[in-house]
Amino acid sequence: MKERAIRIRLMQVEDFGAVVGIDEKVLKAARPEYYELKFEKLFKSREYLSTSLVAEDEDGTVVGFIMGELYMGEYGIAREGATLDSIGVDPDCQQQGIGEQLMNEFFDHLGDLGVQRVNTLVDRNDDNLMRFFSANQFSPSKTIINLERDI
Ligand SMILES: CC(C)(COP(=O)(O)OP(=O)(O)OC[C@H]1O[C@@H](n2cnc3c(N)ncnc32)[C@H](O)[C@@H]1OP(=O)(O)O)[C@@H](O)C(=O)NCCC(=O)NCCS
Repeated sequence: MKERAIRIRLMQVEDFGAVVGIDEKVLKAARPEYYELKFEKLFKSREYLSTSLVAEDEDGTVVGFIMGELYMGEYGIAREGATLDSIGVDPDCQQQGIGEQLMNEFFDHLGDLGVQRVNTLVDRNDDNLMRFFSANQFSPSKTIINLERDI
């Protein structure tokens, strides 16, 4: 499979607009408030280390992102405390290996920091996302179960 030529770099505060824009294109609904809270937590908190990345094309246009955080506890990095919160690739640029490259870089980065496991939540009815995560070696957790109760 020939991967598209893109550059992956750490996400910066200035990427806010691009991230919100891609998320809106993907979900067909804008949710800037959600990302305001996320960016606040990731870029201002001392307890969390941002492990978020963006993919940009040759022109420097951001075409994809992956957001995650790593809890820095009292004793340093929690080896199993990393989460992958969201991933999105501009619909015009999907199916070109960008999602996979973001995922690989994300794991390389966390691996270098000594992290051994990453957790994420996925809607099991979202076939596209379930297939993508499965193809990227995610499997149902053996230790965590998501509980819910109707009101
Ligand atoms: C899931 C998602 C991130 C995948 O991004 P992507 O860049 O399309 O991912 P990839 O290209 O690495 O892989 C996707 C598919 O394209 C295929 N592919 C990759 N490169 C390819 C190429 N050059 N030619 C043809 N197919 C290719 C992969 O094999 C994979 O196939 P699959 O559909 O059978 O799994 C993207 O679809 C997305 O943003 N979805 C919405 C996610 C969402 O809801 N986010 C908001 C809340 S978290």
